[in-house]
Amino acid sequence: MSRNYNFCAGPAAIPEEVLSQLKEEIPDWKGKGLSVMEMSHRSKEFVEIAETAKQDFIDLLKINSDYEVLFIQGGASLQFSMVPMNLLTSNKSLCSYLDVGQWSKKAIKEAKKFGLVEISASSADESYKKYPDPKSWNIDENSLFTHLVLNETIDGVSLRNLENLPKSNLVADCSSCILSEPLDVSKFGMLYAGAQKNIGPSGLAIIVIKKELIKEKENLPAMMQYKTYADSDSMYNTPPTFAWYLSGMVFKWLKKNGGLLNQKAVNESKANALYSFIDESSFYMNDIDKVSRSLMNVPFLLSDDSLNSKFLSEAESNGLLNLGGHRSVGGMRASIYNGVPKEGVDSLISFMKEFEKSNG
Ligand SMILES: Cc1ncc(COP(=O)(O)O)c(C=O)c1O
Repeated sequence: MSRNYNFCAGPAAIPEEVLSQLKEEIPDWKGKGLSVMEMSHRSKEFVEIAETAKQDFIDLLKINSDYEVLFIQGGASLQFSMVPMNLLTSNKSLCSYLDVGQWSKKAIKEAKKFGLVEISASSADESYKKYPDPKSWNIDENSLFTHLVLNETIDGVSLRNLENLPKSNLVADCSSCILSEPLDVSKFGMLYAGAQKNIGPSGLAIIVIKKELIKEKENLPAMMQYKTYADSDSMYNTPPTFAWYLSGMVFKWLKKNGGLLNQKAVNESKANALYSFIDESSFYMNDIDKVSRSLMNVPFLLSDDSLNSKFLSEAESNGLLNLGGHRSVGGMRASIYNGVPKEGVDSLISFMKEFEKSNG
């Protein structure tokens, strides 16, 4: 198998070991003579795959029994709508949002369709280069929940210190940081994450929600209600079985490799190496406030942006894929999720050094 290093922000790199196992299992899953994609979601085999994946996810994040874990189609973007649809009581109820980057803006736009939105903190004036300190968040006491994007994938900005979080009903979009390190779930009313970064294939989102927040919402379509998923083990209809199965394989891989504490150490060593190299160079630049720097998404600029396309095409020829920044911000971005090994980051740094030598 010939593999390049994939720095895509999502769909993102999947651990090579998992892909090899998948290759083995595709035609004939455990001697059953069929692939998981062809199995009934009601079969005892698939139900076991689904339950094991859910339990492994719960074990990895040490989620207690106050929470329900749901597997829902529609990616994280559907959650931008489902959260206010389910957690607000009327279109006059109030919710709070942090405006900390491009994904926050999308979430806010959806929430405004279903209720009154107050912005508790914003880093827009600082061009989203610094995550507002939780001590500065201004949350109205009537607000039913406070939404935050824990890691802004496009901007490369993250809330790294969760010590001073307010004791409000916090709802966090963890799409691009879930499973990258341990997380104290009990600080949140709800978490959600699109799968295609640290979990598995796109299209699926995993939701962790306090049971007390799951309410019957008579006026909502069944597929838009958390209760429907909670009452049916996320199998009210045919779930995305392949995505669920492959996610479960990734969870087993994480467990086998020392869980989230090990992942944190690996991810910190990757991110520290890349940020240190960029900071020491005068050819590359990352202008994000140092305490808000993302462990997962490292945006950087070349001092001469006319070299951008040359950089990207030479990187690709060197087996380093998808380093272009998001179309809304430009520049470069290396997404270094769990599936990107330390060797991938080392190769990127070596390439960047050589590129600087020839073009600086
Ligand atoms: C932080 C964040 N939230 C939401 C989304 C949207 O996810 P999806 O494409 O699964 O709807 C993304 C996608 O990259 C993201 O990075």
